Amino acid sequence: MGIHSVLLLSSTLIALSRASTVDDATKYSKENVKDIDADLLKLAAIPSISSLPEHARDIVAASEWLIEKLKAAGLENVKLLPTKAQPSVYAEWLRATGAPTVLIYGHYDVQPVDPLELWDTPPFEPKVDRKDKMLFNGRGVSDDKGGLLQPIHAVEAYLKTSKQLPVNVKFLLEGQEEIGSPNLAELLQEHKDLLRADIALSADGGQISPKHSGIALGLRGAVAFEVEAQTVDVDLHSGMKGGSVQNPIHALAQFIDNLHAPNGSVKVEGFYRGVQERTAEDIADAAAYPFDEEAEMKSLGALGPHGEDGYTTLERRWLRPTLEVVGIWGGFTGTGIKTIVPSKATAKISCRLVPDQDPVEVLEALRAHTKSHAPPQTRLTFRKLPFHAQPYLMPRDTVANRAATKVLKEHFEGPFFYREGGSIPALALMKEHLGIWCTSFGFGLSTDNLHSPNERYMVSMWDKGREAWIKLLHEMSVLGSGQEEQAEPDMSTVLKDEL
Ligand SMILES: *[C@@H]1O[C@H](CO)[C@@H](O)[C@H](O)[C@H]1NC(C)=O
Repeated sequence: MGIHSVLLLSSTLIALSRASTVDDATKYSKENVKDIDADLLKLAAIPSISSLPEHARDIVAASEWLIEKLKAAGLENVKLLPTKAQPSVYAEWLRATGAPTVLIYGHYDVQPVDPLELWDTPPFEPKVDRKDKMLFNGRGVSDDKGGLLQPIHAVEAYLKTSKQLPVNVKFLLEGQEEIGSPNLAELLQEHKDLLRADIALSADGGQISPKHSGIALGLRGAVAFEVEAQTVDVDLHSGMKGGSVQNPIHALAQFIDNLHAPNGSVKVEGFYRGVQERTAEDIADAAAYPFDEEAEMKSLGALGPHGEDGYTTLERRWLRPTLEVVGIWGGFTGTGIKTIVPSKATAKISCRLVPDQDPVEVLEALRAHTKSHAPPQTRLTFRKLPFHAQPYLMPRDTVANRAATKVLKEHFEGPFFYREGGSIPALALMKEHLGIWCTSFGFGLSTDNLHSPNERYMVSMWDKGREAWIKLLHEMSVLGSGQEEQAEPDMSTVLKDEL
């Protein structure tokens, strides 16, 4: 045998043994599906609601449950990473010498459950019936307890069968995602060395439908503020004084009306600074994405699409910033009538931002606009609200995206590249503090009633997701050199190369 055939044979053997570890892990996870289901039922039964102080103990209980689970799965150095409030859970397995290190992100906190009366089953008594292919029902089963358990079960399946993983892994499971990750930046900074990795993967994400997969390249950022209009010191008699002083509700309505041009664009000086123009590839992504606009509008109860002129519905959600009034109040709102000219009116406003808007600059532009656009005889007060996320846009051609593409193709049509209209602060924070891009690899669906009553998770997505994670870890070892270029990419050339 010549040297070439020896090399060929040995690399074939390595490939074969790798493939068999994937098969063994997959087989293990199929055979142990009862225990795997039981894990989700147990974790989702813990009401770890991060926004309500009375659930602080449940946050602790969920983090302790995870610590035990990660240890049982065979992970090492399992521990809590405390913050000022809800802690994160950390675990690692770093014995894959020479292979890349993958940081896996997820969150174990959940949203509140109200209104409780709209739930068909109690939110913290999740159920599954595999015979009927029933959905898991319960708060957090999709977002993100089901999501974060998939990679844990994938790792467990490898460690219980071949005693090793194809890559090094680190888990970072957060307890504050649903309240906007207020302490995550600090945590990442403090544990920079511990969390150092070549690639990040987020288990908090979804697919487009049971048939169609997607890879989200971008997320919108966010800021929020409150504007209070005051015209007189106290509510006045509308007969005695009405018509002779400014009405703050009228004034606030006028201010709000002036925030948009008739074509739907935002009329605040400096608001669009940095906004990236649509590229041919963005337009192609939006056009290719499986989306039935009419059906969706109908399902929302909307009379039709509405927004900024010159953009399609998906472009409006993916590529354009927004400014929306989320609530408005003032004066008398009880039953009957009270004859007053009110003294004050208030509106809460939130903005979604796109690359490369700077949230701090946008907030300053809004503050300046508020200061210089008070209606006549009106004092406007601007207050910043604690809702803040950096917009995020990753390059398309990364090791993780290539590996995810390969795996998703085996289970779904696609993947379609798209952008999320929403915000997940963690992704931009990992880029900022750890210098790595994060690929979302989750299996929730938009029909899972996330943040709403009757949250659910389809059994088929729960199972496919776990198998996909097993394959993804393998593909990462094949494709990942461990030396992925982490320099800030020039997006214009990245996008052009793809055309
Ligand atoms: C919408 O109107 C604004 C203000 O008149 C203008 O600056 C902007 O270019 C318009 N946008 C489109 C898409 O026509």
